[in-house]
Amino acid sequence: MSTNATTRRVTHCRVCEATDWQEVVSLGDTPLAGGFLDPADRYDDEPFFPLGLISCRSCRLLSLTHVVDPEVLFRVYAYTTSESQTMRTHMTRVVELSRDRFALAPQSLIVEIGSNVGDQLIAYQRAGMRVLGVDPARNIAEIANAAGVETLTEFFDVGVARRIRAQYGPAKQILGRHVFAHVDDIAEVLAGAGELLDPDGVFTIEVPYALEMLRRNEFDTIYHEHLSYFFISTLVALFARHGLRLVDVERVAVHGGSVLVSAARADSAWTPRPIVAELCALEESTDINGDEVYRKFAGTVAGTVRELPELLRTLVGSGKRIAGYGAPAKGNTLLNVCGIGADLIEYCCDTTPFKQGKVQPGTHIPIRGPEYAKANPPDYFLLLAWNYADEIIQQESDFLANGGRFIVPVPRPAIVPGASDAGRIAGVA
Ligand code: TMP
Ligand code: ZN
Repeated sequence: MSTNATTRRVTHCRVCEATDWQEVVSLGDTPLAGGFLDPADRYDDEPFFPLGLISCRSCRLLSLTHVVDPEVLFRVYAYTTSESQTMRTHMTRVVELSRDRFALAPQSLIVEIGSNVGDQLIAYQRAGMRVLGVDPARNIAEIANAAGVETLTEFFDVGVARRIRAQYGPAKQILGRHVFAHVDDIAEVLAGAGELLDPDGVFTIEVPYALEMLRRNEFDTIYHEHLSYFFISTLVALFARHGLRLVDVERVAVHGGSVLVSAARADSAWTPRPIVAELCALEESTDINGDEVYRKFAGTVAGTVRELPELLRTLVGSGKRIAGYGAPAKGNTLLNVCGIGADLIEYCCDTTPFKQGKVQPGTHIPIRGPEYAKANPPDYFLLLAWNYADEIIQQESDFLANGGRFIVPVPRPAIVPGASDAGRIAGVA
């Protein structure tokens, strides 16, 4: 299927407008990571899009080479916030940190961009705050509204921000968890935040931390929804361009190592906590401003792309059965880029009802529920949802006790002998 009409090649940096890019890694053409297919459908017109990573030599934003039209990506959206203990605990922590550091009070207005099914805002409601969600996905916003979280079905922009301010007043916090990296027109979103934010309010985003992606070889987190991969120093410069000041960072473990970053109006009383300068110094000492660190990353990615299918082929060749654990979006980068298909992976087991019964995009590996996996246990689970390694391995103590093993794909492919090793190897302990 022709994809030209729905993609745009990136020329200017969306943070600093520079045009001098370092090519980091090309991952070929892949299907959309959330493009789960109905087995009844014909697959011959399944769309594939170029997937490549480039680095701005001026501000060191890491960006995809191509942007897929957001109307294609986000109007009907497969991702719903994982109902995992890890995520529930994290969401409570986001509320506590925000409240304690930025003097949020009961009745403060919290507006969340990309609010998904509303789980994060429900945690704010419990703390007595007023909440409003904004999410373009019609299917998802419907679920949130039904759960009592008022949600506008919109892409957040200046117009939406003005309407919200007129109807609900200024926001004490605007939150965007794992959505800011999806935004192409960052200037528009920050202008909208400028319209809506209370003079003492904060704009808080949570994004995967680019330093962790490089360090742990998390190349599978590269997919078409994730347009940007941020360092703190890049964000400091970005916010400054838009009249905001980056005042706080909290490193959090979710999604392979993320940062919860808060910015306030430059003319507000909020000043940066020491962690901001500390992380900028860490990035500087990691040489993120030179080309070498990205060349090294590309080399490590190439190593995994070679080694993982080799490992799986050897196991299958000796009669072992392998299934995927989880069907997260990033698993589809991993499987497609490594050329791992239904010849190596019998099925992927995932708890999300929406995904069960479908097949994975590109590889067409069937997705089953946990009951199926219990009845048909493989010898090895390839841990596609490696960001939940600890929780999953605790859950699967029977599988391990019966001789089953997990394979973690990153930072390097490895067979995990027991529970206590998985988090360490996957780097999420
Ligand atoms: P995420 O990393 O994007 O949240 O996706 C994780 C996927 O893994 C999601 O589809 C749910 C699935 N999953 C399971 O199937 N079992 C589990 O125990 C956990 C924690 C997640
Ligand atoms: Zn730049």
